[in-house]
Amino acid sequence: MTDAQTVSDLTKEQARLELARLAALLGRANTAYHREDAPEISDAEYDAAKRRNAEIEMHFPELKRDDSPSEVVGAAPGEGFGKISHVVPMLSLGNAFEDDDVTDFDDRIRKYLNLGARRELQFIAEPKIDGLSLSLRYEGGHLVYAATRGDGETGENVTENAKTIADIPRVLEAAPDVIEVRGEVYMSHADFEALNTRIREKNAKLEADGKKPLTVFANPRNAAAGSLRQLDPTVTRERPLRFFAYAWGDLSAPLAKTQMGAIERLAALGFVTNDLTKLCDGPEALIAHYRDIETQRVSLGYDIDGVVYKVDDLGLQARLGFRSTTPRWAVAHKFPAELAWTRLEGIDIQVGRTGALSPVARLQPVTVGGVVVSNATLHNEDYIAGRDSKGADIRDGKDIRVGDWVQVYRAGDVIPKVADVDLSKRAEGAERYVLPERCPECDSPAVREEGDAVRYCTGGLICPSQAIEKLRHFVARKALDIEGLGAKQIEMFFDDPDLSIKTPADIFTLANRDAANLTSLKNRKGWKDKSVANLFAAIEAKRDIGFARLLFGLGIRHIGETGAKDLAQHFGEWSKLERAAETARPAALAWRAADLAEDAERIAAAKGGRRGRIKEVRDAAEAACNVSVVAKAAWDDLTGIDGIGASVALSLTDAFANENERAEIDRLVGMLRIEAPEAMLTESPVAGKTVVFTGKLEKMTRDEAKVRAEALGAKVSGSVSSKTDILVAGPGAGSKAKKAADLGVTTIDEDGWLELIEGL
Ligand code: IVH
Repeated sequence: MTDAQTVSDLTKEQARLELARLAALLGRANTAYHREDAPEISDAEYDAAKRRNAEIEMHFPELKRDDSPSEVVGAAPGEGFGKISHVVPMLSLGNAFEDDDVTDFDDRIRKYLNLGARRELQFIAEPKIDGLSLSLRYEGGHLVYAATRGDGETGENVTENAKTIADIPRVLEAAPDVIEVRGEVYMSHADFEALNTRIREKNAKLEADGKKPLTVFANPRNAAAGSLRQLDPTVTRERPLRFFAYAWGDLSAPLAKTQMGAIERLAALGFVTNDLTKLCDGPEALIAHYRDIETQRVSLGYDIDGVVYKVDDLGLQARLGFRSTTPRWAVAHKFPAELAWTRLEGIDIQVGRTGALSPVARLQPVTVGGVVVSNATLHNEDYIAGRDSKGADIRDGKDIRVGDWVQVYRAGDVIPKVADVDLSKRAEGAERYVLPERCPECDSPAVREEGDAVRYCTGGLICPSQAIEKLRHFVARKALDIEGLGAKQIEMFFDDPDLSIKTPADIFTLANRDAANLTSLKNRKGWKDKSVANLFAAIEAKRDIGFARLLFGLGIRHIGETGAKDLAQHFGEWSKLERAAETARPAALAWRAADLAEDAERIAAAKGGRRGRIKEVRDAAEAACNVSVVAKAAWDDLTGIDGIGASVALSLTDAFANENERAEIDRLVGMLRIEAPEAMLTESPVAGKTVVFTGKLEKMTRDEAKVRAEALGAKVSGSVSSKTDILVAGPGAGSKAKKAADLGVTTIDEDGWLELIEGL
């Protein structure tokens, strides 16, 4: 093998031959990997060949070939796509399921905008395409990049692939200088079938040659995603993808005054827009169009999963703005849930960061509404036994056993659930399922407290799956971000019996260990006096920590970065957050009870082929919990925070009510100095100021005024005190205006306020 020969020993002729051999080898490997999804050589062999090729090219630059493998862009296995951060984030949509949710949507908007019930409010309704969203940025009329949604903030650069899609123009005429067109990439049913047929034919050949077959796509959405995210654009070119334009991001000039106008403009620019987009004058017309689209669904030739409603007036859209991840001016009305029968192959137990044992159904894969489902949540042991949290029957009291035929229910993005069990197919001798009484991860007793539906591992920090997950999250970049302390070091410290870093608080006691233990750290490979000192300094520096970072770092279920920021912004002080979580607890439990009741009703309705009495059932379950006014007020305050939904609020109260978790939080908090959140927009003239609105506002509603003010970093309070900086007084302002005058608080009218925040 010439590979063995040192590059500097090669003659020029040997080098030329070797470069030719490597170009052929790597070219073949690329095709096998990217185009046929059937790698012929290992990643390690591939990398070694690529390195050797580069080394020879460096020694003999004059021999570099025109088709040099080092010039092949973006096609190296595992290299992935570049990242693009979206100038305007790509958000998702809130969901509606029932007709009532549509009227609620209209009511909410009218209330927010203070429109009254009779003022005209137009919407557009259009199909919700089941594909993947893509943002196309054009500058000076030329496509500069195409990016996937990613996490909404940062997506993948798939420009070369997007250029292969016929519906995507490369050049625009008479467009704004900067325009980002957004829409959905999808694959038609016919193209999807044809693609799978081609793959099956290829597989027959591959199998005959004893090679690994290619994956047959489960549905058009997966096929579209798999094709767009191909590292080799020539593969994407062979996959017939399409694109519907329905939205936009960054713009240097507005497209129109209305959503419909903007869509027409996009069509005039050469984009494909959806024909079923319709202007509607209210909920009734929206629902009528929804039904119409629902009946056409089977014959459209592409997958849709609902209908999207958007406020037509773009001025109103701007006023309505966004919650943390969804616009207030749009909603997705989803098609009803789908059901399918399959076999329950087993029940797995997952142990989460909080120690909760969650049973998960392992199913024989089945397609439910176009998506392959192989797992479903089983909630807890009562649910498996066929009872709800109050002991009432669910699924007519039928329990779930391994080996059973179960009916799987799926609605929109909701995690699949088991809706029913076919007792006639139950195997003889099938036994009732019993949740393990010991943690499958650490063998500690797993106990269930009186009144609690969940069984928890009592191992706490000795349970590796809880402890390590918590620690890893705690030191992550978006959480504490301690320099020199990443996931790798955490694992090492966790396993080291001398250092024994088992909890976040332990990190802050690391420097207090006795010398002998620290010697053990210093004796480790790669750790020297200096690096240990640096690590201690880095840890010390994080004793002053931002409220939101700390809260996010605790890894409480559902509390992501944005949620943590919203909570920090609202409460300002840690003790206030604690108090709110404690006070709201009974109301949180009532909400959970109502949610379970709602689920049960939804499933019953889907099975009975009727529309559910969701609201009534929910309200009744909640009322049965008989929550105090104080708890309800705390819960309303918590869930009233923009961006904080009930499940986030519930998790928060869960964490503070869990004894072990709470003790750890308190211990950690005791070691830190928590910094109050910074105002969101420090350069705004109202940042950090306390503002009170009183009297009648004429150009906006209170809600809107409050959201705007808070977005600019102000604190909005309901009463005037010496802490008030600005009173915005509309007509009819009474005692508050007087008090403000007495206290010497700056008082302005609504126009004065709008002038102050103008352009922000
Ligand atoms: S509007 C600010 N319109 O649905 C929100 N989205 O669940 C902009 N989608 O991420 C989205 N069809 O990928 C909009 N006609 C449509 C859509 C649509 C499909 C997708 C989109 C979005 C997801 C949200």
